[in-house]
Amino acid sequence: MLVKTLLPSLLLALPCLAQDSRWGMPDEGQPHNRTWMAFAASANIWGDTLDAVRKDLATIAQTIAQFEPVSMLVRQEDLSTAQEMVGSSVNLVVGELDDLWMRDTGPVFVKNVDNGTIGGVNFNFNGWGNKQEHGNDSKVAAEVDRNSTDMVVSTTLVLEGGALEVDGEGTAIITESCVLNENRNPGWTKENVTEELSRLLNLTKIIWLPGIAGKDITDGHTDFYARFASPGVVFAGFEPDTSSFDHDVTTQHLEILRNSTDAAGRTLDVVVLNAPGTIRPTTNTKDFAAGYINFYQVNGAIIGPEFGDNDTDSAAKAAMEKAFPGKTIVQINIDAIAAGGGGIHCTTQQEPAFGATPAAGNASATVSSQSSANTSAGTSTSGSGHHAVASNALFGFAVVTLVASFMLL
Ligand SMILES: *[C@@H]1O[C@H](CO)[C@@H](O)[C@H](O)[C@H]1NC(C)=O
Ligand SMILES: *[C@@H]1O[C@H](CO)[C@@H](O)[C@H](O)[C@H]1NC(C)=O
Ligand SMILES: *[C@@H]1O[C@H](CO)[C@@H](O)[C@H](O)[C@H]1NC(C)=O
Ligand SMILES: *[C@@H]1O[C@H](CO)[C@@H](O)[C@H](O)[C@H]1NC(C)=O
Ligand SMILES: *[C@@H]1O[C@H](CO)[C@@H](O)[C@H](O)[C@H]1NC(C)=O
Ligand SMILES: *[C@@H]1O[C@H](CO)[C@@H](O)[C@H](O)[C@H]1NC(C)=O
Ligand SMILES: *[C@@H]1O[C@H](CO)[C@@H](O)[C@H](O)[C@H]1NC(C)=O
Ligand SMILES: *[C@@H]1O[C@H](CO)[C@@H](O)[C@H](O)[C@H]1NC(C)=O
Ligand SMILES: *[C@@H]1O[C@H](CO)[C@@H](O)[C@H](O)[C@H]1NC(C)=O
Ligand SMILES: *[C@@H]1O[C@H](CO)[C@@H](O)[C@H](O)[C@H]1NC(C)=O
Repeated sequence: MLVKTLLPSLLLALPCLAQDSRWGMPDEGQPHNRTWMAFAASANIWGDTLDAVRKDLATIAQTIAQFEPVSMLVRQEDLSTAQEMVGSSVNLVVGELDDLWMRDTGPVFVKNVDNGTIGGVNFNFNGWGNKQEHGNDSKVAAEVDRNSTDMVVSTTLVLEGGALEVDGEGTAIITESCVLNENRNPGWTKENVTEELSRLLNLTKIIWLPGIAGKDITDGHTDFYARFASPGVVFAGFEPDTSSFDHDVTTQHLEILRNSTDAAGRTLDVVVLNAPGTIRPTTNTKDFAAGYINFYQVNGAIIGPEFGDNDTDSAAKAAMEKAFPGKTIVQINIDAIAAGGGGIHCTTQQEPAFGATPAAGNASATVSSQSSANTSAGTSTSGSGHHAVASNALFGFAVVTLVASFMLL
């Protein structure tokens, strides 16, 4: 009897006793207020692909802008180039930057579970475990937070947005190879990370994938391996090439995902996205990230890549049409960014609408449903990769050729 009467008041008191209250990260498919990007390729990192990479960034930004507003960070010295290449449909914001991967440098937008305050988590970007210079990029998350949220949400955890995949209903998928890596969080156990991410992202269940460390700059980000289409439905990357280091690990991932239940107790429906068999010959670099899994969800649409292999381009489109009923599937050529080992998801960070009216884009009917019409079939090998730092002499990080069904970061 005593216990019975005490329990309810104890439970009620818990949120107040907690040192810090909980925050929640919505699923990417929830309505956005806008997308953040960075027009920040540098010759230092991107070498002679600089122009092509900028063109791809402009294509991604203009495509997203048809569906929701885009705010794009740009260095002062690149401002006129950006204005010329990106055009007026995107809001350019001057800032100090090192590189273009906004998924990893930007904040993770969250809402306080108890009082509704909007925050942005600053996950202390450290250049993917100090593999790349990040003096400017490490300040991006807090800077964006100060201008677009109520407060910076602090943590001592070090990770990147590409390492986190959530369903918005309490489940996350996270790779151990990245988040439990000594180069980011020495001394942290799985339990420590689970406790802290539960507080920051409103999680009740983390599905841990092993991932693989030391093969690419991200140490195996989740957004290369597994993406929620909706709660209970997960796209999964699989490496069919048995000679690739990623074959065993992705085989294991599929097994784990198929054997997992989510926070609500559902068995996951795992959809494998096959990689292109061919890519366009001009882009056949060893780091090429030839996969469809690094797509990005915007208001009313899914923006994904096309690689010029008609069969797999249309198969990916069909799989997405099935997984995202009612949404427009837009496929664009991002070969130059893929050649650097990343994809569309890696270049973006969503700012959720958090219950407010979702923002509308700069819709122009003529472009909003383009697809793989311009795929010119390639004949080269289908190497693919995790995100690499293209021709960065200082940090020239060996990226082993992986393959195909995904990309990373
Ligand atoms: C909401 O909660 C957070 C975390 O405890 C706190 O920092 C913030 O000041 C609160 N906001 C309001 C408006 O009370
Ligand atoms: C937190 O998670 C619970 C249970 O999954 C959900 O009902 C609630 O809406 C979430 N709140 C936020 C702010 O994410
Ligand atoms: C939503 O985005 C617009 C820019 O498109 C910005 O001006 C506004 O402050 C944002 N709203 C919120 C609530 O952050
Ligand atoms: C949409 O973008 C075009 C340029 O791409 C611009 O001229 C036009 O003003 C924009 N419209 C709106 C409503 O933002
Ligand atoms: C920021 O980038 C500029 C180059 O654009 C560089 O000169 C500066 O040293 C960087 N700042 C930090 C803190 O790394
Ligand atoms: C933040 O706002 C300041 C002042 O308006 C502006 O100079 C800066 O570019 C903004 N930065 C971001 C990331 O929005
Ligand atoms: C990890 O958890 C253990 C056991 O609860 C605790 O002693 C330790 O301080 C935690 N470490 C971190 C970094 O939170
Ligand atoms: C699948 O889950 C069951 C029950 O938790 C467990 O006994 C089994 O070992 C798992 N199999 C694999 C391949 O993970
Ligand atoms: C395909 O390429 C042609 C010629 O480069 C261009 O005119 C057309 O707009 C493109 N179509 C799509 C859907 O991108
Ligand atoms: C791919 O599709 C385009 C447009 O439908 C067509 O012109 C081209 O011949 C196709 N290529 C292959 C290799 O089937």
